[in-house]
Amino acid sequence: MDIMETIRTRRSIRAYKPDSISKKVMEELLQAAIMAPSGSNTQPWKFYVVAGERKRQLDNLLLQCLDEGRETSNELQQFREGGDEAVQEKMSSRRQELTRAIFDTLRDNDLPIEVFVKGSFKYFDAPVAVFITMDQSQAEGSLLSIGAAVENLMLAACAKGLGTCWIGMALMYSKEIKQNLGIPDAERIVSSFCLGYPDPESPLSTFKATREEMSSVVEWIGWE
Ligand SMILES: Cc1cc2nc3c(=O)[nH]c(=O)nc-3n(C[C@H](O)[C@H](O)[C@H](O)COP(=O)(O)O)c2cc1C
Repeated sequence: MDIMETIRTRRSIRAYKPDSISKKVMEELLQAAIMAPSGSNTQPWKFYVVAGERKRQLDNLLLQCLDEGRETSNELQQFREGGDEAVQEKMSSRRQELTRAIFDTLRDNDLPIEVFVKGSFKYFDAPVAVFITMDQSQAEGSLLSIGAAVENLMLAACAKGLGTCWIGMALMYSKEIKQNLGIPDAERIVSSFCLGYPDPESPLSTFKATREEMSSVVEWIGWE
């Protein structure tokens, strides 16, 4: 697959086969992540790569946190209230559009909506979950470097026939995740995702989110 085809093919996968991922493949993917550019080559990331029984334990813990309605401890703000109303409305309608489209896909296939609602909290039963941290001392700019590393890994995974889904939701229980994985308080979890072989039987493996037209997000300046 050439790079443009990989970019076009990648999508968030929310249903996985139970097949595990070999450490060799995982190392190759992490190598792709750490080849990403970073501000002043600071490489501010650290990766916690969780599999097997530890992954299942963590999934159960996060589902328990959700069911008990535990206090949240997100270390990265996911949404910001206030500001320009039109922008907020646009963002909120995009979120609703995605949720509605996924709910419709599930309903059309006689699947419960919990598959999506609770799925993020158990990393969609994928064999691997990855948590990326940076030192608490690092500025917001480092988040961009981490985003580049995650996307590198996701594209490399896609080229190898693996699926990924970025997970922000479960990070509302960052305190519990850190305790469970032994992540020091000096670090903050800024990103996470799951990884595995897509379940070809699930409609969630073929679901494709829409994109806005280029004309509504690009301003051409100084072009003839
Ligand atoms: C920062 C971030 C957080 C995300 N968190 C979640 C999540 O918690 N659960 C989920 O199902 N998808 C999550 N996603 C995936 C997005 O919903 C997805 O990327 C978007 O709908 C576009 O679809 P695509 O990735 O299939 O192109 C997240 C994506 C990003 C970049």
